[in-house]
Amino acid sequence: MPEKLKVVVLFGGQSGEHEVSLMSCTSVVKNMDPDKYDIYFIGITKSGKWLLFEGDVEDIQNGVWEASSKPIVFPADPSFKGFFLVDNPSQVYKVDVVFPIMHGPHAEDGTIQGLLELANIPYVGCDVVASSVAMDKAMAKAVFDSFGLPQGKYLVVLRREFEQRPQHIIDAIESALGYPCFVKPSNMGSSVGITKAHNRQELIEGLKEAGRYDRKLVVEAFIDCREIECAVLGNNDPQASVLGEIIPCNEFYDYNAKYFDDGKSRLIIPADLPEEKANEIRQLAIKAYKALDCSGMARVDFFVEKDTLEVYINEVNTIPGFTKISMYPKLWEATGVPYSKLIDRLIELALDRFKEKHPE
Ligand SMILES: Nc1ncnc2c1ncn2[C@@H]1O[C@H](COP(=O)(O)OP(=O)(O)O)[C@@H](O)[C@H]1O
Ligand SMILES: [Mg+2]
Repeated sequence: MPEKLKVVVLFGGQSGEHEVSLMSCTSVVKNMDPDKYDIYFIGITKSGKWLLFEGDVEDIQNGVWEASSKPIVFPADPSFKGFFLVDNPSQVYKVDVVFPIMHGPHAEDGTIQGLLELANIPYVGCDVVASSVAMDKAMAKAVFDSFGLPQGKYLVVLRREFEQRPQHIIDAIESALGYPCFVKPSNMGSSVGITKAHNRQELIEGLKEAGRYDRKLVVEAFIDCREIECAVLGNNDPQASVLGEIIPCNEFYDYNAKYFDDGKSRLIIPADLPEEKANEIRQLAIKAYKALDCSGMARVDFFVEKDTLEVYINEVNTIPGFTKISMYPKLWEATGVPYSKLIDRLIELALDRFKEKHPE
């Protein structure tokens, strides 16, 4: 029997998507083969504390984990290659690979990935630059433009500019984009801080709301669209899954529609599109993945205009939701990769990339 891989599943985090991460983590762990992996659960609390949890995986999802966990230190110093308990620094827990399942700022944005680079430990998913560029909607849009990927009209606005010259910013948005438009924090996720503005008053409120989450905001023209998503998996030769469609239960796919209005938003897999259109979108998904130099995994989201089926890229999610109702694992299941095989593959890809970066 070969030795089991020591995997840290990293969950929680300081972002607005903390709860989503707990749900994703529980579902990932339930699909990890206990014969192959020794799993450590490390949770990051909303205030940023790192804790080792040794209880039942069900107690992650319901939040009970936090009270019974022990504080740890996860050093950037590569001579440790692991972590230790605050109360017992002499016993180091060695780690072979980390699987971060956290979303949003300080999780999916290259920060955790940077720590793991310093610590010299392989990790699942995109590296520092792909993570941070994908997380920042304004940056990602600039890259998509430079690679000729089709996208809707948008403007990038600094919160400070809006505070100092509100009328100027509003005029610019009204003349470039009109109503309705979408106002978003540049760095966020799970629709946190996003609103749809139908008029000037809502635009002002939307800019203030988005400004609670980020100093940089993105405003986009509304696209009357279907929402189509593609799961991509791989390092240098990424593969695209079949496509899925989201039918949101609310006016748009907001936070409640994504995670809580259980069963009311619908996922349709495979999406009902002509084969040629589906292939075009899958090619674009791979192009976007390569444009951001992704590795491991990402879910690439598109807006497809209802009448014309014209395709626009929306965003690339480098740590997509992994809850039991999430699109990423479901798309791979529909493409012939069962959930537990998907986890195996992601871990293999993490180890492969590490070897590629650190040739002997
Ligand atoms: N330009 C747009 N036109 C139409 N709907 C949009 C537009 N931008 C966002 N939406 C809606 O808002 C949702 C969340 O926006 P998105 O940019 O994907 O944010 P997040 O990164 O939080 O998922 C989308 O899934 C879609 O329902
Ligand atoms: Mg989205």
